[in-house]
Amino acid sequence: MTTSTSGTDETAVASYAPSAEFAAQANAKADLYAAAEKDRLGFWAEQARRLHWHTPFTEVLDWSDAPVAKWFADGELNVAYNCVDRHVIDGHGDQVAIHWEGEPGDSRDVTYADLLADVSQAANTLTELGLVSGDRVAIYMPMIPEAIVSILACARLGLTHSVVFAGFSATALRSRIDDAEAKLVITTDGQWRRGKPAPIKDTVDEAVDGAASIQHVLVVKRTDSDVAWTEGRDLWWHETVANASKEHEAQPFPAEHPLFILYTSGTTGKPKGIIHTSGGYLTQTSYTHHNVFDHKPGKDVYWCTADIGWVTGHSYIVYGPLSNRATQVVYEGTPNSPDEHRHWNVIEKYKVSIYYTSPTLVRTFMKWGKEIPEAHDLSSIRLLGSVGEPINPEAWRWFRDVVGGGSAPIVDTWWQTETGAIMISPLPGVTSTKPGSAMTPLPGISAKIVDDDAKPLGNGGNGYLVLDEPWPAMLRGIWGDMDRYKDTYWSRYAEEGWYFAGDGAKYDEDGALWVLGRVDDVMNVSGHRISTSEVESALVTHHSVAEAAVVGAADDTTGQGIVAFVILRAGEENTGDALIAELKAQVSKEISPIARPREISIVPELPKTRSGKIMRRLLRDVAEGRELGDVSTLVDPKVFEAIKKGR
Ligand code: WTA
Repeated sequence: MTTSTSGTDETAVASYAPSAEFAAQANAKADLYAAAEKDRLGFWAEQARRLHWHTPFTEVLDWSDAPVAKWFADGELNVAYNCVDRHVIDGHGDQVAIHWEGEPGDSRDVTYADLLADVSQAANTLTELGLVSGDRVAIYMPMIPEAIVSILACARLGLTHSVVFAGFSATALRSRIDDAEAKLVITTDGQWRRGKPAPIKDTVDEAVDGAASIQHVLVVKRTDSDVAWTEGRDLWWHETVANASKEHEAQPFPAEHPLFILYTSGTTGKPKGIIHTSGGYLTQTSYTHHNVFDHKPGKDVYWCTADIGWVTGHSYIVYGPLSNRATQVVYEGTPNSPDEHRHWNVIEKYKVSIYYTSPTLVRTFMKWGKEIPEAHDLSSIRLLGSVGEPINPEAWRWFRDVVGGGSAPIVDTWWQTETGAIMISPLPGVTSTKPGSAMTPLPGISAKIVDDDAKPLGNGGNGYLVLDEPWPAMLRGIWGDMDRYKDTYWSRYAEEGWYFAGDGAKYDEDGALWVLGRVDDVMNVSGHRISTSEVESALVTHHSVAEAAVVGAADDTTGQGIVAFVILRAGEENTGDALIAELKAQVSKEISPIARPREISIVPELPKTRSGKIMRRLLRDVAEGRELGDVSTLVDPKVFEAIKKGR
């Protein structure tokens, strides 16, 4: 329902008020904002009490060691117990936790009782392998139930997991294993991709070769592919976990026990291991999943289309939904395998009611045509969510009209690997939404938009997004590099003590918050964070490359596309397309196919300032085909003529 249209700029758009019917049944009520405003810490304590605490906490926040927060620090809980055991104890063992849909068409339902048995078996095996609380375990797996079981088994034992997206290269996996000194990798023989098995264990073998910390590789059979085997190191899941005892008693851990490390790209080449802990993280993922998705246990069928390799998979496939006793769909494959109807078939089959995905996928669906979703009964859908990048109003409206039957509320959720859980989002049933705006910080969360001088901006203001109060799911640091933690997030507004998110944002004239995208050298390609310097480093590992500069250029489907400019070493021949193909392959091999540049231009020179800094802003102008901005600080403006010729 359109309630208002005002103003003149592109953000002054119609807003959609919640229907009375939705509002009446919604988990979230408007008074949450006032309650949180009145007593923020009391509000969070109440949210934390939605969980089961083996030892109740008496203190809420200790910020004396800022910027490292302690939440609920004297409380003890077991995260896996909260996600599995207590639902079984409460009599919901027969409820399906996971409707798993394999890419080749196989499927499996896993109940909460099944999950408890599986997690207990995995926990017993990991214990037998000698792993103890505090050890790190790398998980490099496709989207199969055993991946979730592995994550929960780690949580149950206080092992800190480091899930690495299974599309990352052996080089990328190795650097993450080394950085965290993981003792175990859990993986599969292979994975299904577009109807064909693709190797996974091969990549792990290459990655762990010579890795000092690795003691074992635990392998789930998924594709029944031939794999190389290292006796003593490698173990089959079906020969170990599947034979282990199904009884396991969960021990409590302090609220600040490290739950996981998740690597994400920063402005420099080396990925950062973001540290998350237990009690605060689970409190906020659980609270947001309940209120932002209006989730009703036992009634809704929830589907988050992310991969467990990203934070969205951690918080909104594993911890948030399972802590709230969700029944959810987990799908192994790509959205167009065997054809573009796959997601809609899955929604019809399981009667999915809550569907959470990325703007890139929505734009891809738009490109495929609305006839495809329209050929299906999507009437089960009652709420839609978006995450990972700004959603353009056109895609937002299409999503609501074509997928949401013209009435489903859309929650556009802003958050980051570092924030651990959703921070800025409408509350369905409460907030009137504007297509493209994440609207407002959630109850309990405080954010500001400020300028370079830390001056808070009001309506119409365009500046940097900061978080000016600690929140329960906030990161607790960067693994092994607390200086980098302080420097990256807390030095920009050190005096004020604010967290600098790295995103630009603005308030429109009605006070709705619009996240505009990264203000640092991080690109956002299909919702994946990739740093320009990471891709540059990968390019210069090729023998013919002397120097590389990478920028993110606007892309109609993926948000941004990676565009690289490369200078060859003296004496290296420019073989044109052949060389460009080789360079693209080099980036896939060094990082992942997701970091593969859309375009590479071989150029004679790169534009630099007099102090020698590459002028990326100008390269972005070139990549996006714009008139050049101010080139007066360039050493040699003629460089551009040569660059344009090279394209
Ligand atoms: C971007 C993903 C606009 C933003 C959960 C942020 C968004 C980065 C939104 C974090 C949104 C995420 N609107 N931009 N709703 N959600 N972003 O760590 O630039 O993979 O800083 O976490 O994605 O990406 P990350």
